[in-house]
Amino acid sequence: MLGNFLFKIVRSSGGLRERLWKLAYETFPKVLPDSDWWFMNYGFEPTDAERREFGTLDEQQFQWRSRAMYHYLAARAHVAGKDVLEVGSGRGGGLRHVAETMHPASATGLDFASSAIAFCEKNHTGTFARYLEGNSMDMPFEPDSFDVVLNVESCHAYRDQALFIREVARVLRPGGKLHLVDVRAIWNWDLLYQWVSVAGLELIEDVDISSNVVTAIELDEPTKKALIKKRVPFWLRGMFTEFAGNVGSQLYERLKNGEIQYRRIVAQRPA
Ligand SMILES: C[S@@+](CC[C@H](N)C(=O)[O-])C[C@H]1O[C@@H](n2cnc3c(N)ncnc32)[C@H](O)[C@@H]1O
Repeated sequence: MLGNFLFKIVRSSGGLRERLWKLAYETFPKVLPDSDWWFMNYGFEPTDAERREFGTLDEQQFQWRSRAMYHYLAARAHVAGKDVLEVGSGRGGGLRHVAETMHPASATGLDFASSAIAFCEKNHTGTFARYLEGNSMDMPFEPDSFDVVLNVESCHAYRDQALFIREVARVLRPGGKLHLVDVRAIWNWDLLYQWVSVAGLELIEDVDISSNVVTAIELDEPTKKALIKKRVPFWLRGMFTEFAGNVGSQLYERLKNGEIQYRRIVAQRPA
């Protein structure tokens, strides 16, 4: 009950909302220090065609569908030899997967939660990816620094998403691309398209992947439920169930009935 109430506040709007998201994301790595918990997205069930085109993952691995969210996004970005930035890198597993399997020239993660960065520094040592603390709306990078920007299930939480998109346009090199997956209402997607255009980026791909995410949630349900029971303190389980998007959560119901959509977009800075 308390958890559900807190989740509703976090989904409200304004500066309070941003502070509460930050509090939530600062808290998770402390409540759940488990070194094998690398992802915080709802997961992606690839189609057979995607498995054929982009390869398969070890589908027995812990959180493999959350890893798949990254794999089938970044594989489309052809990152080999490119400088890659991930904004909102969380527990760092997605960027590590990209760095270890897709041969980018560099892989930089940025997240505003210092505890998430501390988690990454502890658990992804010896990997090629580097993780920095910083805000998506004021990125600590020179203009024209990256070829690819990845953003996975993060930007709906930013206070000023238009500013985030302008920052992406600033740090991308000419011809560089933003590959983003996120979940939001259709009117809110329309706003994002406007911000993309105002920032001078061109929307070159826009695909509804809600059904891949709904299927992932349904297939992962038994594992996630057991995991939350085992690892999350009882007073946080309500909120965690919402954040994890389990079957029956507000997120799952709204995604299934089409009130919100999970989409993948690609936006390019003109060459
Ligand atoms: C739902 S989690 C997703 C994490 C990761 N992308 C994944 O898929 O596992 C959202 C992440 O965005 C980060 N985030 C939220 N607002 C941010 C901001 N203004 N600047 C940078 N990171 C932010 C959070 O700290 C959190 O790690």
